[in-house]
Amino acid sequence: MFNLILFGPPGSGKGTQSEKLIAKYNLKHLSTGDLLRSEITKKTPLGLEAKKFMDHGQLVPDEVVIGMISSALEANPGVVGFLFDGFPRTSKQAEALDNLLALKNLTINVMLALDVTEQELVKRLVKRGETSGRPDDNNEQVIRTRIQEYHKKTSPVADHYKKSNKVILVKGEGTVDDIFGSLTKEIDSRMKKK
Ligand code: AP5
Repeated sequence: MFNLILFGPPGSGKGTQSEKLIAKYNLKHLSTGDLLRSEITKKTPLGLEAKKFMDHGQLVPDEVVIGMISSALEANPGVVGFLFDGFPRTSKQAEALDNLLALKNLTINVMLALDVTEQELVKRLVKRGETSGRPDDNNEQVIRTRIQEYHKKTSPVADHYKKSNKVILVKGEGTVDDIFGSLTKEIDSRMKKK
């Protein structure tokens, strides 16, 4: 199995690149943002609770997302590998993921971290907010809160994987196809070394 984390701040292109990567490598896409939005659409108790945090650009409590990922891992036995998008987002989530994977004799093979300037992130998300209907893209203050949450709580997650030499920084600005090319080059090289 080959398990990768696509890492980066809000608007760095995780969702866009994940779609292309899962098609190329046949990986199972696990996006906590998508899973949470699906719960909100279905108006489940979990979704209603998560919405309170998401609408303000804050992270949903660890127990909620760790539980969701644990269920998703159980529900997908025998896949070629997982692509984690938007998870883990705190050190606690990273430790939980390591433990969940270790129970199955698995590990994270690589973390690809998309590097995009804050100015570009805000530009992309403000633009998407005009058409997406995502409540957390609708005002610039919420977008800035999401980016602050990333710097404060999420960016240290990369240090967790740096210790085992699993982090590769990839330039996340330029055309979608060029960025995809850089990501696949790194993945192919890691797969060969495996
Ligand atoms: P989530 O859904 O994960 O959103 P996010 O991290 O804020 O990321 P986005 O989806 O906004 O951006 P992205 O990096 O995927 O970029 P995209 O490809 O869409 O999380 C939402 C919320 O859920 C969180 O705030 C939190 O509340 C909660 N949550 C989720 N996971 C959690 C967790 N683990 N723990 C706790 N809470 C959690 O691209 C963005 C835009 O840019 C698009 O319009 C796209 O078309 C455009 N774009 C993409 N690439 C390029 C390019 N190369 N050039 C120009 N434009 C581009």
